[in-house]
Amino acid sequence: MVSKRELIFITTNSHKVKEINELADAESRNITILHRDYDYPELQLDEIEAVAQESANYIREKTGIEDSFFIEDTGLFIPALNGFPGPFSAFVFRTIGNEGILKLMADKKGEARKATFKTVVAFCEAPQKTPVLFVGIAEGRIAEEIRGRGGFGYDPIFEFEGAEKTFAEMSTEEKNHVSHRSRAFEKLLDYLS
Ligand code: IMP
Repeated sequence: MVSKRELIFITTNSHKVKEINELADAESRNITILHRDYDYPELQLDEIEAVAQESANYIREKTGIEDSFFIEDTGLFIPALNGFPGPFSAFVFRTIGNEGILKLMADKKGEARKATFKTVVAFCEAPQKTPVLFVGIAEGRIAEEIRGRGGFGYDPIFEFEGAEKTFAEMSTEEKNHVSHRSRAFEKLLDYLS
């Protein structure tokens, strides 16, 4: 029998844990996710790659964790708003929220409603523990209105490309099939195998 590999995922976001757990459980992958609810400060940097890398370094140094672990940082990038909210996605969501983004997009039509979700997974492997980064991207558009009750964050205003639905109108399984997070996590799994 192949023994299960355990992977520590550090986040305070239960929605991310749910998505990653379902991905790990799918297709008999022999991965068990061990969730650690550790709240680390998120640096405000211009690139989410740097945010993920610095967060992983911070956790490693602060906690002295000896095991392999990963974290992830995600941003919503809207080209018509020069990439906003991008690395400021968490702050913008807490302040103006989805309604605020829709207002900023009120005069944007067609191609100008394009948007990209990007997730950067930072994996610190024991014993070396220098973070290795994996990027996943999902292309789509900002919906005209808030739709759906599933998911979290910007999901109710993000329509995946070619789909009629927002991520919030999809099941976790449907979102996982195409999402930025699943694409980054799949790259981590490829690396591990
Ligand atoms: P962070 O990765 O937790 O810093 O996320 C930044 C912001 O993007 C937060 O407001 C999250 O709620 C939001 N966010 C992160 N991942 C997703 C997602 O998969 N869908 C929708 N919003 C997300």
